[in-house]
Amino acid sequence: MNKGFTVWFTGLSGAGKTTLAHLLDKKLKEWGRNVEILDSDTVRINLCQGLGFSKQDADISIQRIAFICKLLTRNGVAVISVTTSPYREARDKARREIGSFVEVYAKCPPEVCVERDITGLYQKAPKGDIGDFAGVSDPYEEPLNAEVVVETDKETVEESVNKIFQKLTELGYLSQTGPAEHVYSPEEEDKIKERLSRLGYI
Ligand SMILES: Nc1ncnc2c1ncn2[C@@H]1O[C@H](COP(=O)(O)OP(=O)(O)OP(=O)(O)O)[C@@H](O)[C@H]1O
Ligand SMILES: [Mg+2]
Repeated sequence: MNKGFTVWFTGLSGAGKTTLAHLLDKKLKEWGRNVEILDSDTVRINLCQGLGFSKQDADISIQRIAFICKLLTRNGVAVISVTTSPYREARDKARREIGSFVEVYAKCPPEVCVERDITGLYQKAPKGDIGDFAGVSDPYEEPLNAEVVVETDKETVEESVNKIFQKLTELGYLSQTGPAEHVYSPEEEDKIKERLSRLGYI
């Protein structure tokens, strides 16, 4: 079985977490890995339905996501968690629970995130239309020891994803040789031959 791991993205809204997660997903699949993405955008409407953005709710959301990440990770899945997860303590708790945990800080100056404003939330935030917004009305606690820091205002998406890939390789989560071709055991070869012969191909 492949060694499972969780890539845990954290960073401000608009920092580029979802964008990077999708390219990482594609690359990991090319590597032959089973991948699951848990993105707060989708998780919010099922696993974390009814939970808001208060610290208490955010902590519960993170706990639930971490629990699923743990289950998948221990079954060899390459898991990508995509949340702002603004609180250091909650992230560290997820790290302890999951074990094979690769924290990726999508670092981007707040003013660049505001300019990108991909969700329109930054425009609403100062008017008080939304409460509990990390980096605006609520704190965002930067990671102190993230395995990877990607600077999304300076790097291309490809450069950032390559950095993450490099770290996963260094940590022994990916084979050094690239997407491995499946090698059949002698028993598997015999079974295949038997089936092909039964079907009249050989
Ligand atoms: N190097 C980069 N890495 C990631 N995104 C980048 C980069 N350069 C520019 N971008 C752009 O920044 C935007 C980031 O949006 P994205 O939805 O990925 O952010 P997010 O961190 O998932 O935000 P949210 O927390 O609100 O979901 C996209 O429009 C993306 O194209
Ligand atoms: Mg996103």
